[in-house]
Amino acid sequence: MAKIEIKTTDIPEGASMTFKWRGKPLFVRHRTDSEIATERAVDVSSLRDPQTDDERVNDPKFLVVIGVCTHLGCVPIANAGDFGGYYCPCHGSHYDASGRVRKGPAPTNLEVPEYSFPEPGLLVVG
Ligand code: FES
Repeated sequence: MAKIEIKTTDIPEGASMTFKWRGKPLFVRHRTDSEIATERAVDVSSLRDPQTDDERVNDPKFLVVIGVCTHLGCVPIANAGDFGGYYCPCHGSHYDASGRVRKGPAPTNLEVPEYSFPEPGLLVVG
């Protein structure tokens, strides 16, 4: 299966749910207005892998990333760490609610796969 369909209406606001896609964990996070505002306000020049929040999301309400730490491939924990996003317990990498690395050994942000919203409430990844 190259693509998966996810009903975004099944993901409560503030929650990050894990799906499986092409053998890897996929995180879909329904972000709150406050999370969106926080991520948009980040000074991109302070980031190790500089990307604006807008470059990483199609719809600011939803973050869609591969749930594999870019350090050595562990699966980060949602809603943990110092930056309100994800925390990788293997060696302590912290990601924000845009999936950008903010602290720890991970060299790059969590990978954003190809995805679209073909109709309201429906996310297609792949
Ligand atoms: Fe995530 Fe090392 S694998 S910090």
